[in-house]
Amino acid sequence: MEHDKKEEPKPLPMKAITLGVAGFFTLVAVAFLILPAFFDSTPFGLLFHRGPAPWALDPEEQAKFRLTESQAKGRYHFQQYCATCHGPDGRGNGPTSSTLNRRPPNFLLPAPSGLRNSLDVAGVIKTLNEGLPGNQMPSFSHLPDSVKQELAEYVDHLHKNPALY
Ligand code: HEC
Repeated sequence: MEHDKKEEPKPLPMKAITLGVAGFFTLVAVAFLILPAFFDSTPFGLLFHRGPAPWALDPEEQAKFRLTESQAKGRYHFQQYCATCHGPDGRGNGPTSSTLNRRPPNFLLPAPSGLRNSLDVAGVIKTLNEGLPGNQMPSFSHLPDSVKQELAEYVDHLHKNPALY
């Protein structure tokens, strides 16, 4: 009669478990990296974004305004950050402009009155960094330098090409 041989407990398949866990985390990580790619919100997303960049002008507009890439990005930021007060084309007629104690200047005029800085790139960057203390033009010093540069190039473009608008 055979004795019941007590079987040795099988060792856990450590290699398979390790691979499984590592694989799972890799999948999660990749999912988190790839999923936002379907939205424009992250720089990573832009890498995978098909179709025109969010700041791209449609071909008709581009033929008319001939913006550099930097100015086109500036235009996009301008609509986000500035147009409520300054109006979409910088005429100073944005929807909230009537509630301000001073109306924003019309960037399309050759020499808007009462400017404290200039409307060239350096002047606008100065305005963005410092704001205009004592009135409702806020400081945008928190924006990345590249964004301030693009905004300034767009304002400069508006000011120098009023006939286009
Ligand atoms: C809350 C309203 C508001 C927002 C938002 C705003 N501005 Fe202004 N901005 C003003 C007002 C008001 C003035 C005019 C101030 C004055 O004449 O005293 C002004 C003036 C300016 C001037 C002229 C500065 C000078 O030399 O006197 C520039 C350039 C300018 N804004 C750029 C911008 C840009 C670029 C943005 C977006 C990043 C922006 N502004 C967002 C209200 C705003």
